[in-house]
Amino acid sequence: MRKLRVGLIGAGSISDFHLGAYLKNAQAAIEAVCDTNEQRAREKAEKYGAAKVYTDYRDLLANEAVDAVSICTWNHSHAEISIAALHKGKHVLVEKPLSISVEEAMQVEKAVQQTGKLLQVGFVRRYATNTQILKRFIDAGDLGEIYYAKASCLRRLGNPGGWFADKKRSGGGPLLDLGVHMIDICWYLMGCPKVKSVSGNTYRKLGNRANIQNLSFYRAADYDAAQNTVEDLANAMIRFENGASLMVDVSFTLHAKQDEIAVKLYGEKGGAEIEPELFIVSEKHNTILNITPQVDQLTFNFEEAFCKEIDHFVDSCIHGGHTLSPVQDGVELMKMLCAIYESSNTGKEIRFD
Ligand SMILES: NC(=O)c1ccc[n+]([C@@H]2O[C@H](COP(=O)([O-])OP(=O)(O)OC[C@H]3O[C@@H](n4cnc5c(N)ncnc54)[C@H](O)[C@@H]3O)[C@@H](O)[C@H]2O)c1
Repeated sequence: MRKLRVGLIGAGSISDFHLGAYLKNAQAAIEAVCDTNEQRAREKAEKYGAAKVYTDYRDLLANEAVDAVSICTWNHSHAEISIAALHKGKHVLVEKPLSISVEEAMQVEKAVQQTGKLLQVGFVRRYATNTQILKRFIDAGDLGEIYYAKASCLRRLGNPGGWFADKKRSGGGPLLDLGVHMIDICWYLMGCPKVKSVSGNTYRKLGNRANIQNLSFYRAADYDAAQNTVEDLANAMIRFENGASLMVDVSFTLHAKQDEIAVKLYGEKGGAEIEPELFIVSEKHNTILNITPQVDQLTFNFEEAFCKEIDHFVDSCIHGGHTLSPVQDGVELMKMLCAIYESSNTGKEIRFD
């Protein structure tokens, strides 16, 4: 069987996880790499054995030897490049978030419908082993109906700067960068219920705290302490039509004692945690059980999850299957995220009925 020939657009930090996973996949061949920064594209092409290097994504899309693309550029170009790729007959794996507005997300969805090509949104946490283990318990009804979920991803010091801190290119701060993962993993495990209303708050109180000394944090390649136009904290309450609710908070900076990541789900028959590690709570014979699954990996394994995400994408492209993270889910996530900003700006709950 012919291999899926892949082009990668946006050869920055996350591209290594895409390219590394394609390299390991026997059904995929890395054909081309594109970045507006030519040297970066060239380095990645050499490292992963791609024959072609481009600085304009349109030239990569014109290459008929490319069957599918991974889009790993800054958020504000995800929709534009996805739409162009689909219309050039390519399958698309686009990094999260799908876009920076609902309108753009819907245009991508329309392009998927028009072209019949596959588009997978990079909700990588859905593909992680601990998520998939928990999903089996949920699908078998072990938690019963999940009516409440709670997710936090709080960095006390961790505004990466660069494009992440530039609202024009990122679309937003920790909400679009971290909140998208937190909300998606809860929503996915809750069975993707229809959103009813969203109430949210965003704050720009602390800035990027470039003044802090003697404590290191991740900085984007083009870090510039003077530039920061994004929120530093966002929180939200999301209500669903089935009566379930989700509470989330995420930060780039916060006067917190320590960084924190927690994802918890509560159902009628049991509960579960997926962050900081997989844990299941149950009740049997009038006794509460705290269950630690005996598996190799209880925590989220970044590299393994990317490999699984990309294996799934390659397989779906080759066999014409459906994807676990389709464009419709990308659109729903954008509705929730944008409603949080709107609710914060207007001071009102946003209703979807
Ligand atoms: N799934 C995850 O867990 C995860 C983790 C990190 C980043 N991401 C996503 O991946 C994307 C990239 O993030 P990153 O950390 O790699 O950023 P980065 O800045 O390290 O890399 C982005 C690269 O894209 C290039 N680029 C920007 N616009 C381009 C265009 N129009 N055409 C060609 N190249 C272009 C830049 O020159 C840069 O080299 C973002 O959307 C981010 O949200 C996802």
